Parts: sequence; C-alpha cells; structure tokens
Amino acid sequence: MPEDYPAFEQGRHLLSVAQFDRDNLRSLFDLADAVDPIAQRQAVCTVLDGAMLGSLFFEPSTRTRLSFESAFLRLGGEVTTTTGFTFSSMAKGESIADTSRVVSGYSDVLVVRHPDEGSVAQFAQASTVPVVNAGDGAGEHPSQALLDVYTLDKELSSRGKAIDGCHIAVIGDLKHGRTVHSLIKLLSLYSDLHITLFAPVSMELPGGVEKYATDRGHHVSVKGTVVEAVRAADAIYATRVQRERMTEELANANAQGDLLNWAMLAEADNLEAILMHPLPRDSRPNSFDLAGDVDDLPGLAIFHQTDNGLNIRMAIFLTALGVSIEAVQLTTKQRPWKATLR
Ligand code: NCD
Repeated sequence: MPEDYPAFEQGRHLLSVAQFDRDNLRSLFDLADAVDPIAQRQAVCTVLDGAMLGSLFFEPSTRTRLSFESAFLRLGGEVTTTTGFTFSSMAKGESIADTSRVVSGYSDVLVVRHPDEGSVAQFAQASTVPVVNAGDGAGEHPSQALLDVYTLDKELSSRGKAIDGCHIAVIGDLKHGRTVHSLIKLLSLYSDLHITLFAPVSMELPGGVEKYATDRGHHVSVKGTVVEAVRAADAIYATRVQRERMTEELANANAQGDLLNWAMLAEADNLEAILMHPLPRDSRPNSFDLAGDVDDLPGLAIFHQTDNGLNIRMAIFLTALGVSIEAVQLTTKQRPWKATLR
C-alpha cells in the first residue's frame, strides 16, 4: 500500500482504492454480506443511533448520494445534506477548508463529491471527522469501485469463476471516467488479469492507470473496435461519455451511435458476458452508451451493482466509525411491517 494512502480502517478517510489490500478488501466484503438483511429491509438496525452524516454533493448525483444516505439511515443514523454550489456558502466564496471545518463540527462522518480532482483530499485535511470521497472530478470514486468489484466477484462466482485470471473488457470514456480509474486500480490487487480496452479518440485511458495495472503483472491491451475488445471477455464494464468534462464538439466528433448493443455482442459471439456499468446510462439517441436492447440478456448486472452499493456503503460507514458486526447484530430486530406490493 503506498505510504500516503494509509489502510482504510476506523477513524480514517476513504479517498482512494489504494487504501486497500486483499485482506481489508475481504473484511469490507464480509461486512457487506453480513448487513444484507438490513440492506434488504428484512431487519431494522439502530446501531448508529445519534450519529450524523454530513452529505455534501457539489456535482449531480442520484444513486451515489441516495445510497450513501440510505445506508446511513438504515443503520439508524441521521443525515444532513447540501447539493450544488448555489445553495451552499461556497457560492459566497467560502473555501473548501472553512466549509469542511464547519460541517465536520455538525457531523460524525462526511461524504463529499466535488468537480475538482484532489478537492476531496482538501476537505479531508480540514475535517475533524472521517471523509469519504464520493467522486472528485476525473480523479477517483472508491466506493463505486468497491461495489463494482464486490458485484463482479458475486457474478463470477455464480458462474463457477473467480476474479483472479479473468478477462474484463473496459470500454467507453476511459479518460474522464473516474469509476474506471478506481476500478482498474482496485482490480490490480487480484492476479493475472486480462484487461482489454476500447475508447473513442481523445478519451483513452490515462497512461498512469494502465501502468498501475501492468506494473502489477496484468496483461492490458488496447483494441481498435468495441467488438474486438469484448470478444471472449468474462465481464464487460461500459461507461458513459463524460460530456460535462469536455467540449460538445469533441464529444460529437468522436462518439456517435451506440458504444455497445446487442448486435455488437452477437458479432463478438459473447451474448452471455456479465454486463456492468456504473450508471447513469445516457439513454438519449446517439449518446454513445450501452444500448437498451441488451437489457434482457442473462448477464445484465447493472441493477445488481446499484443494489450492492447499499451493502458496500453500510460497510464503509461501519468501518470508518469502528462499529463491529456484533454491535450491529445486538441492535438489529426483525421488522414488524412488510413493504412488498401485492
Ligand atoms: C458515475 C460518476 O459519477 O462518476 N456515476 C456514479 O457515481 N454511479 C459515472 C458517471 O457519471 O458516468
């Protein structure tokens, strides 16, 4: 583990996937498994009674913010939230350091998303409580990579396979997509991976991320077409063109049509592959994203990812706040109500 990235444990910020090795990754996944009845709403937990989450999102978000907040609420905590710059004092010129110091005074843990790379680390520096990076510009998105690897592990094991030695195709905007940067780094903890990449012109994976994987003994190859990249892959991870991080002309010049659709998978003879995407999927015409015609394929895992996000984010909070699974079990009871539709 690099020196400036201390292992993620109680009382530590979560800023990068580099804070994990195979051991603390396994512990986090075990915790995520153990809280499943609470995530599934079969049981109600109050272990975080009295704890407050400060949720600060300065960039658009649906699932990341709601799943972090739901995770904290399901553990019995409370949430305060602010979204966008307009409704925060940053619109009045307040610094990251001042904002962070103030909000950490109201909270036991902070979750922060911000458009600038490195900005969440600045929040962490000024905070008096643990800070979780929920995406810093094109930098990292560690909780997403954790839920992606957790999901990939489950999908592969249900097929009698493991992440070690698997072939994963990573396609789409690999330059600006922070989920991909964190995913490739976290996957590098495993052994003997075969990673095939496809990106439109000007959206290629940064050399540093590719080197991170090759330095750790993985085989990375860049393909000229998406069909070549996904051929024989056990899993395919597609990601959206990050239009907010480039000019419209650049996006339109290099990314037209679909990134991946049913016909391309059929041409690659790989209709059985595990299909992953961090979402949101850009469903507008010509958006160069994962097409809707793959949704009935047996390997579609995109909504397993979003469901698993809750378990992983509960496990992140329990770890940062030093709560054991025994304490969770002691404060968990069967729910007396049913939320299913007739
Ligand atoms: C991603 C993000 O915000 O980086 N979404 C997410 O958190 N699930 C991916 C994206 O915006 O394309």
